[in-house]
Amino acid sequence: MLRTLQRIEREASEALAIVESGEQLGRWQSDYLGRNGSLTTVLRRLGSLPAEQRPLAGKRANELKRQLHAALEEKRQNLRPEVGRDAADVSLPGRPPGAGRLHPVTTTIRRMKAAFGQMGFQVFEGPDVETDAHNFTLLNFPPYHPARDSYDTFYTTQPDILLRSHTSPAQIRVMRTTGVPLRAVVPGACYRSDPPDASHNVMFYQMEGFAVGTNIRMGDLLGAIRGLARMLFGEESRVRFRGHYFPFTEPSIETDLRCTVCGGSGCRLCKNSGWVEVVPGGMIHPNVLRNGGIDPSRYSGFAFGAGVDRMAALWYRIPDIRLLYENDLRFLEQF
Ligand code: DAH
Repeated sequence: MLRTLQRIEREASEALAIVESGEQLGRWQSDYLGRNGSLTTVLRRLGSLPAEQRPLAGKRANELKRQLHAALEEKRQNLRPEVGRDAADVSLPGRPPGAGRLHPVTTTIRRMKAAFGQMGFQVFEGPDVETDAHNFTLLNFPPYHPARDSYDTFYTTQPDILLRSHTSPAQIRVMRTTGVPLRAVVPGACYRSDPPDASHNVMFYQMEGFAVGTNIRMGDLLGAIRGLARMLFGEESRVRFRGHYFPFTEPSIETDLRCTVCGGSGCRLCKNSGWVEVVPGGMIHPNVLRNGGIDPSRYSGFAFGAGVDRMAALWYRIPDIRLLYENDLRFLEQF
């Protein structure tokens, strides 16, 4: 009997070693541990052994039974990847991690920085969370000035702390730190509580630009804007200047660029006018220079606030700037 158990042990272990599938494992289980399996048959015959052989044979047979169950369980674990429902096919090629790419707004900011860099402008940053003073008062919007309405924004629970509604507050910050002469651009996000449409959003990007020094004139501003349009959109780009009003510049202008989405025939982006307002600007108001610590009787300056999203829309021919902020990869992957 003991020899039979030894033989079963050897055969079972050899047979298990070559099992390669769940189906084969099932067959192995029934061959040794099943109702008519060889070990079961031995166990059944224990009772017919002479009484003095029974304890030892019984002990060995039960040990072998535990041993075979343990071996069965181990094999089942090893086979699992192949027999499981979520089987991993190790022969499949790996999935390359997405390389990612720059957002069209980022690319546009870089192109604009490069263009202004060639014209001698340095890049600065200003905070998104601003004071009422920087966003308004120091830019010549006294409290209760009606022009504050068109720059309405989001307020915090702290009095006089808000999300900047334009990048112009950076004029004051940069003037106060660098002094004259200066040429600066400040790209960044701005916020407004306006109803969104194809050319407006509650969050958008601007690039403020300004130059202060002796004898800076309106012609310098127009030249800088034309230079930007040429570097970004080529020699054939068309620019139109018209008079405007801003509290912080005097005189003030608005610059329109020929709409590239429709070529001038009219679309959503240009509101059917054929032109898109992209670079408002003007000569910095003496009060603003003074608030920046600069003597307006000795120095003058120009300033502008280019609309980055609209530039991106014109460059990539995107008919609605809100698409830029939906984070839909199917859209973003086109650029
Ligand atoms: N801050 C203005 C806006 O958000 C744009 C602007 C106009 C900026 C004239 C300027 C400027 O620097 O001179 O609409």
